[in-house]
Amino acid sequence: MITFSYKDDNLFCESVDLTQVADTEGTPLYVYSLSGVLSTLERFRRSFADYPHKLCFALKANSNSGLLKILAGQGVGADVVSGGELQLALNAGFPPEKIAYAGVGKTDSEIEFAIRSRIMALNIESMQELKVTAAIAERLKIVTPVAIRVNPDIDIEGHPYLTTGKSANKFGIPFSKVREAFIWAAAQPYLRPVGIHSHIGSNIVKIDPWIMNAKKLTDFIIHLKADGIELEHVDLGGGFGVDYGTVLTEQGNPLLLDPEVVIPKLIDIIKKSGCECILEPGRSIIGPHGVLLTRVLFTKQSRGKRFVVVDAGMNDLLRPSLYNAHHEILPLQYRNDKREKADIVGPVCETGDFLGLDRNLPPLQRGDLLAIMTAGAYGYTLASNYNSRPRPAEVLVEKNQYRIIREREIL
Ligand SMILES: Cc1ncc(COP(=O)(O)O)c(C=O)c1O
Repeated sequence: MITFSYKDDNLFCESVDLTQVADTEGTPLYVYSLSGVLSTLERFRRSFADYPHKLCFALKANSNSGLLKILAGQGVGADVVSGGELQLALNAGFPPEKIAYAGVGKTDSEIEFAIRSRIMALNIESMQELKVTAAIAERLKIVTPVAIRVNPDIDIEGHPYLTTGKSANKFGIPFSKVREAFIWAAAQPYLRPVGIHSHIGSNIVKIDPWIMNAKKLTDFIIHLKADGIELEHVDLGGGFGVDYGTVLTEQGNPLLLDPEVVIPKLIDIIKKSGCECILEPGRSIIGPHGVLLTRVLFTKQSRGKRFVVVDAGMNDLLRPSLYNAHHEILPLQYRNDKREKADIVGPVCETGDFLGLDRNLPPLQRGDLLAIMTAGAYGYTLASNYNSRPRPAEVLVEKNQYRIIREREIL
């Protein structure tokens, strides 16, 4: 389900005219569609049928507290990677027993906070972290559930910055050392090994890496039983890729990797382990259902090149500058005029501050509004105050209404 469409040449989110929202609330402005998010959640849920599972939403994709409260209310769990995210998840009402905490660099106080919060599992990323966690758990006299994050050396064949499961990446413990880690953990009085975790990357668009990951983990769990260690869950991480190209058609599928195809195949593999399946989707849940609205400040021509300077920059949406990521850019008022190439650039004092280069767009004037599409994930969470710019406001659309879920920042 794609929730953005033109009605009488005006871009709408569900039944809300985005021009009216931008005129009232100002720009830059993030806008999310609730029905889009809920429909994607439903697709994930359906895919599991009645297989035991937990969907743990990855807060790093979007940690707006208004949105998190809705997800927690839907029975979803949380995947967090810092003490700050853990606090946000708890504040939003995610039950601790549905929270997984990964991250290569947890501080002692973050580990203590997670142990005291009695979360589902700390996903441990090194032997040293395992030993520190055991010592803190012993000091607190709290038996702590841990999962070991494996680095399975699997290539998702995606952007190098979004690849996390190759041996050259900093994440997880190599397979050759994982058995030793589990045996050590099982012998500790205050550790309880409950799961195995492997998140191999983000925006994965091929099914093969998923299948390979599931097979490697399942084989391992079965072998570990011979050591007398019975795990409860297998956590395959997040990473479902979204379509940054097709952003409008009603029949469009915002996900490039369909959970309803992939998840049954994964379950077919992991059911031999007898373990519950955990997934940690972030981008796929919210990415396609959010846009960043921005207004044209100035237009200019330089040696045949057209620049459109808008009021949103790399501090509001970093993905184009950081990953050279493509986001479709649409005028809020559709015009059938002849299109010409233009660079859509922000106001930040960096040449790398752009939202789209060489885009075919109709003539644009000062005051025109644009939507940067598919910006719901890794948009606001990567925003900063660079150039001392306040971060944008965020609104949530529900059918024909919207509400502000975060005020515009005041510096
Ligand atoms: C441990 C972990 N889980 C889940 C995710 C979410 O990935 P995605 O937003 O691609 O679904 C990430 C992001 O890289 C991650 O690092």
